Amino acid sequence: MTRFPGRPSFPEPLTYGSLKLPSRYLLSPLAGYTNLSFRRVIREIGGVGLATTDLVNARGLLEGSRRSLQMIESHPTDRPFAVQIFGSDPIAMRDVALFLQERGIDTIDINMGCPVNRIVKGGAGASMMCSAENTISLVQGVVEAVSIPVTVKMRLGWDDKQLTAPFFSREFEKVGVVAVAIHGRTREQGFSGSVNRDGIRKVVEAVESIPVIGNGDVRTIEDAATMLRETGCHGVSIGRGALANPWIFRQLSQWEATGKYDPPGNFVERFALMERQFGYLEEQHGIQHALIAFRKIGHWYLKGMQVKPVHRHEFQMCKTREELISILNKIAELGPSRGTKTGLLPDMHVPVPSGAVERW
Ligand SMILES: Cc1cc2nc3c(=O)[nH]c(=O)nc-3n(C[C@H](O)[C@H](O)[C@H](O)COP(=O)(O)O)c2cc1C
Repeated sequence: MTRFPGRPSFPEPLTYGSLKLPSRYLLSPLAGYTNLSFRRVIREIGGVGLATTDLVNARGLLEGSRRSLQMIESHPTDRPFAVQIFGSDPIAMRDVALFLQERGIDTIDINMGCPVNRIVKGGAGASMMCSAENTISLVQGVVEAVSIPVTVKMRLGWDDKQLTAPFFSREFEKVGVVAVAIHGRTREQGFSGSVNRDGIRKVVEAVESIPVIGNGDVRTIEDAATMLRETGCHGVSIGRGALANPWIFRQLSQWEATGKYDPPGNFVERFALMERQFGYLEEQHGIQHALIAFRKIGHWYLKGMQVKPVHRHEFQMCKTREELISILNKIAELGPSRGTKTGLLPDMHVPVPSGAVERW
C-alpha cells in the first residue's frame, strides 16, 4: 500500500502581489529545456502554478534578437507566465521590463542565480550578489517601472562565507519585489553537494511578508514535503524533477488538496506526451529545428521510458520526419525494456552537467 506524506495546510493560495497563482508548485527555468513546447505539455497535465522562460538577455531582447523574441513566445494555455531576464545594465533591465509589460507578460523574474562564467563576467546572474548597492538599485528601477509583479531568483550567496540571500531578500521586499525564489546552494557549489534547507529557512525568517519559494533537488512528493516543512517556504519550484516526471505538479496539487495523488505517467502516456511536445516544437520552429532541438529532451524521456540505448541512438540520428516516425513506431511497439507499457516505470535519474559552474 502506498504511504503518502502528510499534506501541507496553507490558509491562503500563493500570490505574487495581485497575481493569484493556481498552485504553489512552480516550474523552475532550465535553459534549453523549459521552452514553450515543454511548458505546453506541463500545462496540459495540470497542477503547475507558474512557468517561466529560460533566462533571456535584456539587451538582446531590446535589440530585437530573433532568438530572444522566440524565447518569450507563449500560448493561451501557457498562463500565468513569467519571463526571466538577466543583465547588469539598469537602463536595459528597466526598458525590457516595460517592453514585457506591454506584451502582456504576467510577471517578471530577475535572474540573480546563474553561476555560468559567461553571465557572471558581465556582472549579471549570481555576481549581482557581490555588489549590494547597485543590485538593489537595479531591482528597484525595474519594480518602479512596471505595474506587473517582479520577483527575483537567487542562490544562497556567492560562497559559504557570503550567505547574503536573507539580506537581499529583505532589501528587495522593501523596494517592492513580491516574491523571491531561493536555490539552496551557493554559486561556488554549482550543483554539487546537497541543498541547504537551513539556508532557505533563514530567508523565510528574514522577510516580512512576501512569499519565499524553496528550490533545489525536489524530485518527489516526499522531497517537496521536506522542503515545505523544514524551511517554512510558501511554494516550491522544481526544475530537473519535472524533466524526470512531468506529472509532478499535478501530483503535488492533488496531494495538497486530498492527501493522495495519482501515479506519474506510464510508458504509453509518456510516449503520447513526447509526440505532443514534438508537435508543438515543430509548430513553433519548423521540422528541421524541431528534429535537432528535440534530441536533448527526447534523450531523457526515452531513458526514463526504459528504451534501450540502441533505439535511443537511432532516435538521436533522425534527420527527417519519416525517419523519426519509423523509429518512434518501433519504440512504441517494443515498449520498455524494464517494466510494462501501462505499469509504473522504475525511477529515473536525471544527471546534471558536471562542473556546472562553468558549463550548463
Ligand atoms: C540545465 C540547467 C539549466 C538551467 N537554467 C536556468 C535558467 O535559465 N535560469 C535560472 O534561474 N536557473 C536555471 N537553472 C537552475 C534551476 O532553475 C534550478 O534552480 C536548479 O536546477 C535547482 O533546482 P532543481 O534541483 O529542481 O533542478 C538551470 C539548471 C540546469 C540544470
